[in-house]
Amino acid sequence: MRVQVKVVSGRAVMSFLFFLFAHICFTQPIIIKANQPKAKIEPTMWGVFFEDINFGADGGIYAELVKNRSFEFSNPLMGWTIKQKKFREGAVVVQNRQNSNTANPRYIQVNVEHAEEADITLINEGFRGMGIKKDLRYYFSLMYQQPLATKLQLHVSLIDTLGNVLGDTVFVPTLNDGEWHKQSVSFLSHATFPKAQLKIDFTGEGSISLDMLSLFPADTWKGRPGGMRADMVQLLADMKPGFIRFPGGCIVEGRDLNNRYQWKKTIGPVEERQLIMNRWNVEFAHRPAPDYFQTFGLGFFEYFQLAEDIGASPLPILNCGMACQFNTAEVAALNQLDPYVQDALDLIEFANGDTTTHWGKVRASLGHPAPFHLQMMGIGNENWGPQYLERLDIFTKAIKSKYPDIKLVNSAGTDPDGERFDFLNKALRKRNADIIDEHYYRRPEWFFANAGRYDNYPRNGSKVFAGEYAAQSDKTVSVNNRNNWQAALSEAAFMTGLERNADVVSMASYAPLFSNADAWQWTPDLIWVNNLQVYGTPDYYVQQLFSLNKGSVVVPALQNGKALEGQDSLYASSCIDDVTHELIIKIINASSVTKMQAINIEGVKKLSNKLKCTLLKADDLMAVNSFNHPSAIHPFMAEQPVKGKKFDVQIPAQSFAVYRIQFE
Ligand code: AHR
Repeated sequence: MRVQVKVVSGRAVMSFLFFLFAHICFTQPIIIKANQPKAKIEPTMWGVFFEDINFGADGGIYAELVKNRSFEFSNPLMGWTIKQKKFREGAVVVQNRQNSNTANPRYIQVNVEHAEEADITLINEGFRGMGIKKDLRYYFSLMYQQPLATKLQLHVSLIDTLGNVLGDTVFVPTLNDGEWHKQSVSFLSHATFPKAQLKIDFTGEGSISLDMLSLFPADTWKGRPGGMRADMVQLLADMKPGFIRFPGGCIVEGRDLNNRYQWKKTIGPVEERQLIMNRWNVEFAHRPAPDYFQTFGLGFFEYFQLAEDIGASPLPILNCGMACQFNTAEVAALNQLDPYVQDALDLIEFANGDTTTHWGKVRASLGHPAPFHLQMMGIGNENWGPQYLERLDIFTKAIKSKYPDIKLVNSAGTDPDGERFDFLNKALRKRNADIIDEHYYRRPEWFFANAGRYDNYPRNGSKVFAGEYAAQSDKTVSVNNRNNWQAALSEAAFMTGLERNADVVSMASYAPLFSNADAWQWTPDLIWVNNLQVYGTPDYYVQQLFSLNKGSVVVPALQNGKALEGQDSLYASSCIDDVTHELIIKIINASSVTKMQAINIEGVKKLSNKLKCTLLKADDLMAVNSFNHPSAIHPFMAEQPVKGKKFDVQIPAQSFAVYRIQFE
């Protein structure tokens, strides 16, 4: 009997050991040299890149629900449907006052014949519908002009697809003096509906001119009227980003110079901000968005305010006198560059100037007398070639002679390698550029393979801004790219290399940031939204974990005397948080087996006996988050007791682990 038990138990032990060795791998210890600081980590290290792409601003974070509120889209009635009980010629007329109002020339005139019941109805479809929430207040506003004789009522309602009313009110224009007036009314919605429409029925008699028909929810970020979607801003705030880059991206360049981003046209009263076509409207024939325009309701003042709200350093990128080189490649002649350069100089004054300066006074008049503390600015987005350098030199000279402390971000073009990159990188380093903006849209294999990219970069001179990166599960601009776990894991591996080389890389941001699931042009993206929901992708949580565990100074994390850059599919970096006196260790296990990893901490007197771990993982590399499962992949926390300065951690297959431990 005893013998039998022994035999059975021996088999069990054998099969357990077999299981263990098949699924758990024991590796060489990782040595953390906590008393060998290598590089200071800039507070700006991990940031966000904002661009109005994928309906990121209009139809996205800018909470306006009415599409084409000012009738300035190329087709003036796009987004609007006009219904009449009995058709009358000229019941609704699009008027143009180009000579007196160049920024906002169009408005509509509604001519109502004596009507007790609505004989004219306007319907706005919103940005792929309007997301309406139960018990939330909505603010409807418009600009109107009407003569003395007009006596009209506007019956304003939100309706679902079947025409059921979700909330309504009556709007009575009160002034009949023939002047333009702004008026608003608010009402509650008593139901939630993701794709509602705005309906306006006219009763009474007379004609009225209407412009800037607008609808905002009350629950904007910080409750600001005409503000931003709080749920979207919250996800940014939750990252505690070191900087926010705005307004892009290619949108800075425009398809041609006329279509470029001009910050001065994006501040002040919204009705005076001149709308332009969004360049992503027509960029991809396979993803057309003919209703994509920039109203600039979210403009430069709001960007600076957003940066301040979320504690991020503002990083505006300005047009350098060149349109997108993938499109027209139009350039401003060198002797015509002054207005472009002046825009840059004026922006610095707008952000930082005291209120006695012209632009400082403008900022104060917009409600922000205190400066925005602008410290850096980008000149050009993805511009390249000698034309870029010629223009950059003119900007640099003008800006540095007036504002020597402003750091300038220069473009290294569209790719992280190749002739264009080499040409620019060499030329910019020769010029001792402050910060060079490198972009990488590559497959996950590239990100894994390039975790050591900066190990041998020059340590002095220009810093690198990893300004736009995202692992492409298929290929750049493919509609098949997915924000899957493999892509996110590869970015985490790459980011350990950025952190390890924080003396070379001073800033990094994933791109693009937002995507409206019903109206996108570009995938993958960090955060996906629809009219009522938002979710962070696995990539979002990778970015968040790096940012929340930034640390102040890098210390070596070595295996067999070498940085971990993929040996046995392990990637690691380590830093110290000077404020909390914690050691932070980030490890990516990209293999398909769990690793039992020994960690030895050198150069500390004492370690706490509590190791905190935040883990991000998925069993399936193709796994994604979604509106139905927004947290399928998200960080979870655990604690482990430790004794002494050597301990073991079990790192699951295909995972990203962040460990924190206090030390003396
Ligand atoms: O992030 C999307 C686009 O990719 C950016 O606008 C551009 O800078 C890059 O090519």
